[in-house]
Amino acid sequence: MDIAAIAARAPVIPVLTIDRVETAVPLARALVKGGLPVLEITLRTETALQALELIGREVPDAVVGAGTVLNARQVEQVQKAGARFGVSPGCTQELAAAVRAARLPFLPGVQTVSEAMRLADLGFNLLKFFPADTAGGVGWLKAASAPLAGLRFCPTGGIGAETAPTYLALANVACVGGSWVAPKDAVAGGDWGRVERLAAAASNLKRP
Ligand code: 3PG
Repeated sequence: MDIAAIAARAPVIPVLTIDRVETAVPLARALVKGGLPVLEITLRTETALQALELIGREVPDAVVGAGTVLNARQVEQVQKAGARFGVSPGCTQELAAAVRAARLPFLPGVQTVSEAMRLADLGFNLLKFFPADTAGGVGWLKAASAPLAGLRFCPTGGIGAETAPTYLALANVACVGGSWVAPKDAVAGGDWGRVERLAAAASNLKRP
């Protein structure tokens, strides 16, 4: 699956920062059951790679990828752990070359028009817009839609259940990313029913 096909699977990609590896599988199961099969595990905790591997093995209906991939070494690590795709908050030439060489479906991050143009030149046409909320939000995406007509975005950062529909209504938005479907207290308390309900509401959000 290329990154566009992965993004087409659901309107929302849960961004998951997993502190306790025991929560990885039940969390993934609840999200998939709620209708969100595409999961981004951020490389921000010591257990991230183990969580990624476990979900890949135990939750076959999940399409699990790695987030916060910053360099070539991490591209190698996440592929070894079974990541089906990668996401980065920004991008470097080294990282772009590494994901290409590894043939890893990839969602590189941008915050400006020039960054988007550079990645488009390298052949990336689906980009993470990060941090969406503080970098201009819906207004930026609307303004960018004509000059960057060939590009689509996955805005992430500061998006919640209330603002997601406004982003998803834009023609240049493929999907949105966010952590709101897996609140820290629900995960810590093992409240998988709540996670599933949040996922179900998010999976019903409409795209144009
Ligand atoms: C990310 O890494 O993409 C963001 O930290 C997720 O942003 P959110 O927690 O504001 O949804």
